[in-house]
Amino acid sequence: MEEKELIAEAASIIGRSRRLVAFSGAGVSEESGIPTFRDPGGLWDRFDPMELGGGDIFTSIFSGAGIPQAAVDFITEMMTVLERAQPNPGHYALGELEQLGILKSVVTQNIDNLHREGGNTRVIEVHGNLFRLACMACGNKVLLGREELFAMGRELAELMAKGDLEGVIKLASRCPACGGACRPDVVGFGEPVQDMGLAMAEARDCDALLILGTSGMVYPAAYIPEHAKKTGAKLVEINATGCYFPDLVDVGIVGKTGEILPPIVERVKDIKSFNIF
Ligand code: APR
Repeated sequence: MEEKELIAEAASIIGRSRRLVAFSGAGVSEESGIPTFRDPGGLWDRFDPMELGGGDIFTSIFSGAGIPQAAVDFITEMMTVLERAQPNPGHYALGELEQLGILKSVVTQNIDNLHREGGNTRVIEVHGNLFRLACMACGNKVLLGREELFAMGRELAELMAKGDLEGVIKLASRCPACGGACRPDVVGFGEPVQDMGLAMAEARDCDALLILGTSGMVYPAAYIPEHAKKTGAKLVEINATGCYFPDLVDVGIVGKTGEILPPIVERVKDIKSFNIF
């Protein structure tokens, strides 16, 4: 089927939906300049996730066990790309689908906050959010503004590069409730994911699911499409390099989300005759 027909097909599923949910991965942020994990040249080509220390990297840093150089390099790279990253047309298209009252929630594996900055308000971040800190003493969570996060990130990268553990701990000890040391509220390898119950309920209750820019390699998040299918939803996948859920999807479009989602939304508005002319 031609791309145009696939776009029309996807728009008709979305237009008829009463409860649309989007499930997204790193591919959605690729056009914002944030590298994906498994594409050639992606983050896992250049960093070994196990060398980053997984979830206990933070406890090991705060217990003075030292800071792996890989972690310093990874955090420095992530801060640099995130500081430049802005929502792209794919994020804004999802924000528009929410404003149109069609998209009920976004379940994302991304930690870059771009779905919120693109206009979505109901965002379930199963791998956490880098803009949020979690106190390691009392569990209190603090949302940081962009400037605050990047200033803190730059200072952290400098302190880590110097191996100044004391400085790192002092910088991190900013819990407004108890003054305890805070860590980024992101899920490290080996740690439990966040809000998975909520995410699975969204998959269960939706009647259509958009699968956007994910290789579907990481569980339990990758159960979402299967769960939605099992409970009767129609599935539309958009991925730049192929179809990663061939046995599940009703429509699979090979393309960039920033290029495919906007024409789909325009088509949906025509179908819903939101256009006044
Ligand atoms: N538009 C659509 N798809 C894209 C684009 C784009 N512009 N650019 C890349 N892609 C696709 C790639 O083809 C790939 O299939 O996005 C997918 C990204 O896959 P991964 O890099 O594996 O990222 P993701 O699926 O989000 O990984 C899940 O793995 O390491 C963990 O915690 C990490 O949340 C991450 C999880």
